[in-house]
Amino acid sequence: MKETVLSGMRSTGRLHLGNYFGAAVNYIKMQQEYNCFFFIADYHSLTTHPNPLALKANIKEMLATYLAVGLDPEVCTLYVQSDVPEIPELYLLLNMIAYKGELEKTASFKDKIRKPGQTVNAGLLTYPVLMAADILIHRAQKVPVGKDQEQHLEMTRNFANRFNRLYKKDVFPQPTAFNFGNELVKVPGLDGSGKMGKSEGEGNAIFLLDDEKTNSKKIMRAKTDSGPTENNSKKPVEIENLFDIMRLVSDTSTIENFETAYNSRNIRYGDLKKQLAADVEAFVAPIRQKANDILNDEKQLKNIMAIGAEKARTSARATIDLVRAAVGIDY
Ligand code: ADP
Ligand code: TRP
Repeated sequence: MKETVLSGMRSTGRLHLGNYFGAAVNYIKMQQEYNCFFFIADYHSLTTHPNPLALKANIKEMLATYLAVGLDPEVCTLYVQSDVPEIPELYLLLNMIAYKGELEKTASFKDKIRKPGQTVNAGLLTYPVLMAADILIHRAQKVPVGKDQEQHLEMTRNFANRFNRLYKKDVFPQPTAFNFGNELVKVPGLDGSGKMGKSEGEGNAIFLLDDEKTNSKKIMRAKTDSGPTENNSKKPVEIENLFDIMRLVSDTSTIENFETAYNSRNIRYGDLKKQLAADVEAFVAPIRQKANDILNDEKQLKNIMAIGAEKARTSARATIDLVRAAVGIDY
């Protein structure tokens, strides 16, 4: 039997090239090898009360993008969290065994409440309980998460253990963090500093669904220096970043040509950026086209959501039956 992997995506919307090369490409391969559940965590986003219309548009856009990059709803289970009522049920039951003290000590909670203007609602405090319910509802063994989510996964294991011990039943396995594929790619941003990211400033990230003009404008504005002063010199970080992005979307001869130009000090950054913009466009255009086709076909999108919800609920119901029986609420 294939092991179960549960991958949760925050419903903050637009995917950029960093998300694509850092996560989505792995998901596409992973769905073939594991029993994969991918879901969009819309309930989690409600801790900050997003605008309802924006939230709706976000969820649809995310689904369409994941489908466009190659998640196959026939192969994996792709669903929206709020379509599976067994998740809030398990969340409620887990809340009965989660301690206030451990929730208050969670690093992500302490971080969030430090922000000025942030109201400290119970949803924020119990965020890790909801995340545990997401994972445990499918009795997933593996969860692809980054460093920032490791503590939440640790708490999930604690809740799972505590539940099993309290009710003397082996209902939940111990989920562990998981890295599919051994290569970890970090896609740099356009601002000359660290990684491409949504929160790194609007000009830093190339979004998969943005139009050609928006993306090429950003690339043309990317930070560069005044050019190499010696042959074969080491590239400053902002230039290396542009080459790194080029290595992801351009063909080898193009990259070699610009490498040679750089090393012989004949490089013109304007040309490099123009080429990069053209290659980014060639790369993202089919994804954007496919996502827009899906978004324009409301019926198909709804159908895919319904299929995902049903598959997810079949798995969730099996767990909730065991949980109810263990707790004694199966009259
Ligand atoms: P963001 O908020 O910038 O969109 P998240 O922190 O929500 O990104 O990450 C979502 C997924 O995308 C994670 O698996 C993360 O590792 C991956 N990811 C995000 N940015 C990059 C990047 N620049 N390079 C590689 N992977 C990335
Ligand atoms: N908390 C995760 C994040 O911020 C998103 C998430 C919600 C999640 N539920 C999950 C991730 C379950 C993995 C498993 O990125």
